[in-house]
Amino acid sequence: MTPVQAAFPATRTRRTRMHPALRAMVAECTLSPADLIWPLFVREGEGVEEPVPSMPGVFRRSVDRVVAAAREAHALGIPAVCLFPYTSAANRSADCAEAWNPDNLSNRATRAIKAALPDLAVMTDVALDPYSDTGHDGYVEGGEIVNDATVEALVKQALSQAAAGADILGPSDMMDGRVGAIRAALESAGHHNVAIMAYSAKYASAFYGPFRDAVGASAALKGDKKTYQMDAANTDEALRLIARDLAEGADMVMVKPGMPYLDICRRAKKKFGAPVFAYQVSGEYAMIMAAAQNGWIDGERAMMESLICFKRAGCDGVLSYFAPAAARLLRG
Ligand code: PBG
Repeated sequence: MTPVQAAFPATRTRRTRMHPALRAMVAECTLSPADLIWPLFVREGEGVEEPVPSMPGVFRRSVDRVVAAAREAHALGIPAVCLFPYTSAANRSADCAEAWNPDNLSNRATRAIKAALPDLAVMTDVALDPYSDTGHDGYVEGGEIVNDATVEALVKQALSQAAAGADILGPSDMMDGRVGAIRAALESAGHHNVAIMAYSAKYASAFYGPFRDAVGASAALKGDKKTYQMDAANTDEALRLIARDLAEGADMVMVKPGMPYLDICRRAKKKFGAPVFAYQVSGEYAMIMAAAQNGWIDGERAMMESLICFKRAGCDGVLSYFAPAAARLLRG
């Protein structure tokens, strides 16, 4: 596109910025509650909302309180919540069998939400880290995070989440071949309408720190996730991973983290035209909240500015811990 414009003063670019109505008229992107997915942390108990210290305003909720949060999301026009379990140490093991227990926390929360709010979409996380004693997303054998055995376990986990009623599965593990294996298993089990939002371009990132506190994985994690999550230096590799996951049957793809990786969102949307989502991760949330609490930035404005950036970059939506606060502001 070649913009045509007259020379100054016939063109005064400030004319369309002078008045709020004109600014609204020429805005190229909009943000609405329908663009948001709210990640929720689930824990055992009843009536519990336990603050996550590194994420001010974020809680680990017992299933009944998760349902209450989901009700709030639905009332605000947020179309989906995404569940992450805080698994007790007793339910973490080398074989990660709790991951496909039909009555694990995530599945109980899914059933409770779907029973109360059938119109709200429930997304679940497919990865072994909440259930492993190593904090890794896959099985560890002789120091290596093994791919193929992990994929077999992920398939069992995915089937148990679909059986519990999850609408969207989010494989966040970054093993090779998992999307195809999960898609095939869902088809043969009759779950042909269960969608997959693949964490396709997921980077090995320092910005996940507060999340690992929230799900209790920080202490357990030995080493790093660099043999499966991506190197921050790469972009072409992200596009290859997205192409691969779409070819294996992903319905939607995700880029994660969000704001430091908007170039990836942009390239992905342009190249594939598939639904692209970004995950504004825990560390991004924590940075904005910490600066706001110190009075160093205006937290509300930073929140809204950070969210519209994802739309500008071409994303169809964003997973964000700000979802209810942003939706409330958007609805005035
Ligand atoms: C783990 C998982 C992680 C996040 C979502 N799923 C952390 C990790 O890969 O270590 C991070 C989300 C966030 O930081 O908000 N499968």
